[in-house]
Amino acid sequence: MSNPNLVIDSKQFRNALGAFATGVTIVTTRDGEGTDVGLTASSFNSVSLEPPMILWSLAKTSGSLSAFMTGDYFAVHVLAAEQQSLSDRFSKRGIDKFAGLELERGPGQVPLLGDCAARFKCKTSFRYEGGDHIIFVGEVIEFDHSAHPPLAFHGGKYAKVHPRALENPVDVEDVNSSFNKDYLGFLLGVASMQLYQPVRKDWQQLGLTECGYFVLSVLAAGKHKTQGQIEELLKPSGHRLGDEELGKLLQAELVTVQGDGPARQFDLTSRGHEYAVKLFVQAKSSEQKAIAGLDWDDLALLKNLLKKVIRNTRN
Ligand SMILES: Cc1cc2nc3c(=O)[nH]c(=O)nc-3n(C[C@H](O)[C@H](O)[C@H](O)COP(=O)(O)O)c2cc1C
Repeated sequence: MSNPNLVIDSKQFRNALGAFATGVTIVTTRDGEGTDVGLTASSFNSVSLEPPMILWSLAKTSGSLSAFMTGDYFAVHVLAAEQQSLSDRFSKRGIDKFAGLELERGPGQVPLLGDCAARFKCKTSFRYEGGDHIIFVGEVIEFDHSAHPPLAFHGGKYAKVHPRALENPVDVEDVNSSFNKDYLGFLLGVASMQLYQPVRKDWQQLGLTECGYFVLSVLAAGKHKTQGQIEELLKPSGHRLGDEELGKLLQAELVTVQGDGPARQFDLTSRGHEYAVKLFVQAKSSEQKAIAGLDWDDLALLKNLLKKVIRNTRN
């Protein structure tokens, strides 16, 4: 029985429910006219191991309701992290959700999607009223699963599952000191040194210093820079640009200058531009090697975390 005196702020209730992280599924069936039906659902849960049973719930307002109320079979697809676009597609109304998808068929001819983290082909066992939803309990007839990492949903947003770092340690060989092994400064230093090694070799072969290399990078990214502006942009690298360094770059005809005094502006010569492009290509190829095995999300997360470390360590 519901309590008539209980007043619930439905937005707050939704937010509180969103604190529970779930996976994302697409539940499919076939209606009496042979049309494929399906929707995105995060209400999936396990019920019983013996017999194997699962449940999920469907809003009574759903356009798919009649098909699930009459169908004897349905299939639950636990989506892989790469399948967010499928989740978006199946959460829309009034579109042909199955257009262009390659389908297999399960019991009762229910449509089956590929490349999921897991699939459960079910026979509808029970339907229960649950407020504004219907709860479907299904007996699992067949299932399969893969190594695809799952798509997660939390606080109204898609998410990715990351094993906790301590449960998934990556060992860096040839590092004996237990302090160093885990010291952030050491790890960042080694990563940065190794990442830069091929680029360093290249700038040395071109007769440049590290500071000279940074000046070329700064001028490749923006034209007409004063010495003061270049110095400001070099600050995070720890380099201070002296007249001597600038003189060397001018002498090597990598940089050209216009004007006089502090307002004089520096630019790359075509030779300087050629060097900068060469070094940029090397830096990019070195970056590609460094991020092997990281997907787009990992990389975005890593860069974000590093930006935080840079901000936190700024003087
Ligand atoms: C991540 C996510 C989880 C959802 N979970 C459910 C759910 O468990 N039950 C439900 O009825 N709707 C759920 N929805 C909403 C339906 O997918 C959405 O209302 C869809 O338009 C229903 O399609 P239909 O009206 O064609 O059946 C969810 C949507 C998203 C994006």
